[in-house]
Amino acid sequence: MNPVTEQIELAEPHLAGWLASLGLGVEYVRAAGNRLYYLDADGTEVEVLDLVGGYGSTILGHNNPELVEYAKSLLDAGTPIHAQFSRHPYANELAWQVNAIIRREFDTSEPYSAIFANSGAESIEIALKHAELDRVMRLAEVSAQIERNLVEIQASLGSAADDLVAEVRAANAERVLTAPVFLAPEGSFHGKLVGSVQLTHNPGYRTPFRALAAQCRFVPQDDAEALTKIVAEERKTLLDLEVVDGAARIVERDLPVIAAFVLEPIQGEAGIRELDRAFAARVRAVADELGCPVVIDEVQSGMGRSGAFFASSHLGLQGDYFTLAKSLGGGIAKAGLTLVRSSRYRTDFELVHSSTFAKDSFSTLIASKTVELLEAADGEAYRLAEHRGTQLRAMLEKLRGEFPAVIADVRGRGLMLGLEFADLSGSPDDTIREQAESGLVGYLFSGYLLRAHAVRMFPTASATSTLRLEPSVYLDDADIARLETALRGLIAVLQAHDGKTLLGI
Ligand code: F0G
Repeated sequence: MNPVTEQIELAEPHLAGWLASLGLGVEYVRAAGNRLYYLDADGTEVEVLDLVGGYGSTILGHNNPELVEYAKSLLDAGTPIHAQFSRHPYANELAWQVNAIIRREFDTSEPYSAIFANSGAESIEIALKHAELDRVMRLAEVSAQIERNLVEIQASLGSAADDLVAEVRAANAERVLTAPVFLAPEGSFHGKLVGSVQLTHNPGYRTPFRALAAQCRFVPQDDAEALTKIVAEERKTLLDLEVVDGAARIVERDLPVIAAFVLEPIQGEAGIRELDRAFAARVRAVADELGCPVVIDEVQSGMGRSGAFFASSHLGLQGDYFTLAKSLGGGIAKAGLTLVRSSRYRTDFELVHSSTFAKDSFSTLIASKTVELLEAADGEAYRLAEHRGTQLRAMLEKLRGEFPAVIADVRGRGLMLGLEFADLSGSPDDTIREQAESGLVGYLFSGYLLRAHAVRMFPTASATSTLRLEPSVYLDDADIARLETALRGLIAVLQAHDGKTLLGI
């Protein structure tokens, strides 16, 4: 079978009908804090505890009152939303705020340049594009050095060097066209646009589009040896000449092939998996050896969710680039940001990259206000994320201790947690077994939790027996208790092998 069409068949079934069949086809009409509301058949509002949090976009809750008030004031004041090619002091302000946080969390004095985007995938594509510009410019520097050397050698050796010089030039003319390669850990998710999807490990999303952009090599999780091996396999060279005993001979120089190492400090879509500290250190060392940047994707893990603004700060891994989105827009705007450390920033990038909507005043000012709220009271929001995350985790661990045959694992940090259920493909119940075999069992849990307990949780798309929890920092004791009741209900249904109740039939 054609591997591309085979992968397409793995894609999700027709979405609307499928959501409805699981009881997830609900229209929400109002949102506030950790709540979403829909109307039942009688038109009565039903309150739902939302732990999906806009896939991590609502660290300060849905429709945070201060952010909504601020958004209204911007519109009331007739703030120019679009003023391209003019001064953007508010964009500088956001860059300053984030730079102050980088200085604090990574104990560095090096400033980062900010490039504005509209989404997570776009902030990643900016990082890939900047890294490629950097690689191409490094390659041009090596090529220019070689060319200067060839001219010098020809001048000193005369026609005796002509053949070798011609051979080197011909070989290099081909070698400089070597396509760039990105590196990322297995399980990575960095978006679904044509560039970023190449770094999204799940083959169902990636392989139909592999012809559209530069490729990524995926490194087995936390496997330093595999990383070394992949780097050796990707090594390419340019040819050069050196003169020994008055005669020219061919030597090889490294050609920069690897454009960047891109990683999530806590993998989201792969089922909430924190990167290993030793592996992070190895990535840093390998990237430094290669001279390529480390891009840290904080789109999901950043903005305080882990208990610090940057989840990578817990790993002691300072990125050469950082990407932010999701909660950057405070849950009400679409905003993304790519930060590049000044020693690696290519000012030429500004000439070759722009976006009509990026840096618009509305989303940038909302982002700035969001960062201000996170930083308020000496980082109260980060302490809350850690504290509430610890309480939430303790409850999940308690369930795991009580029901080890149902709950396989609890992972994550702060308010980015994953609850993995044991494999149900051996279930005596046909419905449960079929859904488990098709890899969609987590959505069956979602339908049950919503219908029976008005709790909204979803699996991570590439590890569908893991439910993820990404509530806002305003989660309280009553919410945690309500979630515990809902999960106990789900566990009881699973222990009873009751597929009908899971499906609501
Ligand atoms: N990077 C990470 C780590 C992400 O989790 C996502 C999206 C993206 C980039 C892309 O951002 O959707 O704004 O273009 N994750 C979503 C999720 C899809 O389910 O968590 P986007």
